[in-house]
Amino acid sequence: MKKIGKMGAALLLTLSMAMLGACGNSNDGNTAAKNGNSATQAPAADNGDKTEGKSITLGFSQVGAESGWRSANTKSIQDSAKEAGYTLKFSDAQQKQENQIKALRSFIQQKVDVISFSPVVESGWDTVLKEAKAAGIPVVLTDRAVDSKDTSLYVTFLGSDFVEEGRKAGQWLTEQYKDAAEDVNIVELQGTTGSAPANDRMSGFAEVIKDNPHLKIIASQTGDFTRAKGKEVMQAFLKANKDIDVLYAHNDDMALGAIQAIEAAGLKPGQDIKIISVDAVKDGMQAASEGKINFIVECNPLLGSQLMQVVKDIVDGKAVEPRIVTEETTFTSEQAKEALPSREY
Ligand code: AHR
Repeated sequence: MKKIGKMGAALLLTLSMAMLGACGNSNDGNTAAKNGNSATQAPAADNGDKTEGKSITLGFSQVGAESGWRSANTKSIQDSAKEAGYTLKFSDAQQKQENQIKALRSFIQQKVDVISFSPVVESGWDTVLKEAKAAGIPVVLTDRAVDSKDTSLYVTFLGSDFVEEGRKAGQWLTEQYKDAAEDVNIVELQGTTGSAPANDRMSGFAEVIKDNPHLKIIASQTGDFTRAKGKEVMQAFLKANKDIDVLYAHNDDMALGAIQAIEAAGLKPGQDIKIISVDAVKDGMQAASEGKINFIVECNPLLGSQLMQVVKDIVDGKAVEPRIVTEETTFTSEQAKEALPSREY
């Protein structure tokens, strides 16, 4: 009996400790629910949301800081990551693919939850993307695409349709010169060689203008998406060609650099030489509102909040569309004047 009594006492003690523990947990839960936001306190199983209460680590490799567009894109990603409460590991590749590959490998080593990057050029990513896949780290492409045949190497591509941007530029030009009786000499400032926006803006534009045999591209060269290179290449174009009618620049920064070269040559940008560009960043919109750029195709850099949502969906195991296209518009000089005061970037 003595023995049974001791065992009984031990059993009772264990039971009451377990009950106390349960009460303690239940009280903690109630206190938390009272003190804070109940949504963030809800257990994962209740709402199927695995990210509740867990901080996501996102590794992001940026192209560089070559343009106004890029600065706005970087700010959007950094601000949105902060707002979402993610740990952002941000790396600037300074326009070099080898730096991006190094950054991606370092993210894999650090076992981040998701890797995202804007690939400086389209080719040459398969090896490192396979490494990310083998490590079980999902990859999201933003802004620019890769040309990998194996689409299982990334979950989705979030960004603009660059071919469509090129087409819009070509459609405006075709309309302007639909009654042209003689040749219209076009010079083209391409973006970074081998990059998706340079390849696609070139092909979309060419596809549309080919229907009018008077629209002739007489020179086409890279200005690497920078103002300095845009100016330098435009100077060379002006030197080599007497009758330039139109400049098609793959971004605002190159158009702005080219405007300096055109003015230095004693010509009026927007009048003596019609200018079409892409992006619609504030400086470009300013030049358009002054009539120096005639037409801008918008390319929206504010991808941050959409990216954070995609990252969360991936971590939560939700289905994500394989292609998410950014919505964009176009601006004539008049429209740019109207839109400029409220332009965000
Ligand atoms: O990839 C987007 C392009 O990259 C922008 O149009 C250009 O300004 C930037 O450098």
